[in-house]
Amino acid sequence: MGQARVSIFDTTLRDGEQSPGCSMNLDEKLRMARQLEILGVDVIEAGFPVASDDDFAAVQAVAQACRRPIIAGLCRALPQDITRAWEALRGAARPRIHTFLATSDIHLHHKLHKTRGEALEMAVAGVRLAKSLTQDVEFSAEDATRTDVDFLCQMVEAVIEAGATVVNIPDTVGYAIPSEFGDLIRVLNQRVPNLHRAVLSVHCHDDLGLAVANSIAAVEAGARQVECTVNGIGERAGNASLEEVVMALQVRRDRLPFETGVLADQIIRSSQLLTNITGVHVQPNKAIVGRNAFAHEAGIHQHGVLQNRSTYEIMTPESVGARTQSLVLGKHSGRHALDQRFKEMGFDLTKLELEKAYKIFTKLSDQKKEIFEEDLLAIVQDGLAQIPEAWKLRAVQATAGTMATATALVTLWDGEQEFTETASGDGPVNAVCASMDKLTGLKGTLLDYTVRSITVGADAVGEVFVHVDFGGTPSSGRAASTDIVDASARAYLNAVNKLVYARRNRDLQHQLLPAASA
Ligand code: KIV
Ligand code: ZN
Repeated sequence: MGQARVSIFDTTLRDGEQSPGCSMNLDEKLRMARQLEILGVDVIEAGFPVASDDDFAAVQAVAQACRRPIIAGLCRALPQDITRAWEALRGAARPRIHTFLATSDIHLHHKLHKTRGEALEMAVAGVRLAKSLTQDVEFSAEDATRTDVDFLCQMVEAVIEAGATVVNIPDTVGYAIPSEFGDLIRVLNQRVPNLHRAVLSVHCHDDLGLAVANSIAAVEAGARQVECTVNGIGERAGNASLEEVVMALQVRRDRLPFETGVLADQIIRSSQLLTNITGVHVQPNKAIVGRNAFAHEAGIHQHGVLQNRSTYEIMTPESVGARTQSLVLGKHSGRHALDQRFKEMGFDLTKLELEKAYKIFTKLSDQKKEIFEEDLLAIVQDGLAQIPEAWKLRAVQATAGTMATATALVTLWDGEQEFTETASGDGPVNAVCASMDKLTGLKGTLLDYTVRSITVGADAVGEVFVHVDFGGTPSSGRAASTDIVDASARAYLNAVNKLVYARRNRDLQHQLLPAASA
């Protein structure tokens, strides 16, 4: 007999993107969406189309690009939201309208100023409208865990009657505890007579650190869809972490006889891609994807693992796609070897992409003797997805020390000419950024700057992430180099180029689609 299937609904691009520092531009969302498709999630929630033109465009683009998974777009239970969501989703191979309305008295009274009866009518009307547009309709009862249970049962029954195919029970404020949440799912199963006509879903936030435990308790109680995000990013303390939910189901299949469509060995890659895009790192001890998740420090543990890995390992690093650092290629490796290695890593590059990757590879192998899989990953996930560069870095030089003011000299190329500027600053990075501001005419304020090493050895590649505010518009940049000043300059310039690209794109969109901005 086959095992029951739990659908994995990924909301990294919607709820996840709402968390501070995690906003993504269209290209970044597309890269992440493609990886989520490879990861094998069942549903990708690509955005909240009515929220902004950018969100609308992202949902539309993901709907075009990812044809296997269901693509969901979020909307309030309001006609203008629902129709806007449908406009963004209509090109999807498998569209889903996801409409929501708060059901707790706290939200109804203080936020919506509606009675329960009015909320019921709104929800039913919203689902009916969505159903007239597409077959697959999800309804979420926002703040369900603080909703009167009788009213929640009434609401769930009514939206299923109106045509909802999925009913989601969010623990919006992360208030529930596992036994209580499991009981709530059981009560719904017992008391809602038409529940068998819909899939019961859960969506848990991590305010008490219980999002994953609550999601698992709900699955044990009968939920068959779990909403979650890569690295657990999301509003406030975040959402249930996808990798933890999936691996709990996989590792404890003895107690949890369920399967998902997720390819576990794509988990680390997905986690790293998200980190690369957002610059938001997971803590080292984060379950499954943290740097130390498989590190054995205590001597007694190391000894045990050397005897037999099962002594202290409940899953192997390989099972989630974390390969131990292995030397993969060197300076003299050719295109064929590179292509072969990429194929082994699961990347089938086009001729053009391979050519571009090879160029970056040869440049990198001039800088460092040994190329690791992490370096190749950085090449495909970063180098190949580079946005058009309005400005290119030609040279950077910085001097600093305790005895003198830091100064920098930067030369940029705008596609036609080279320009050079110098500036001083609080440190070499500050001086580099100030020189660039003079050159580009864009005044940036560094909100966040992180540097870490991504490969090992004395010639390790350092990776710099920056979050920059350009007069109220945020942008983020990332770059890697064996030289930290060079990496900092490139990361800052990456943020500048993304901003220029986004502005040009927006201007173009407005010229082509004047109605979209109305
Ligand atoms: O947390 C929440 O309630 C949500 C809903 C919109 C599903 O994100
Ligand atoms: Zn949420």
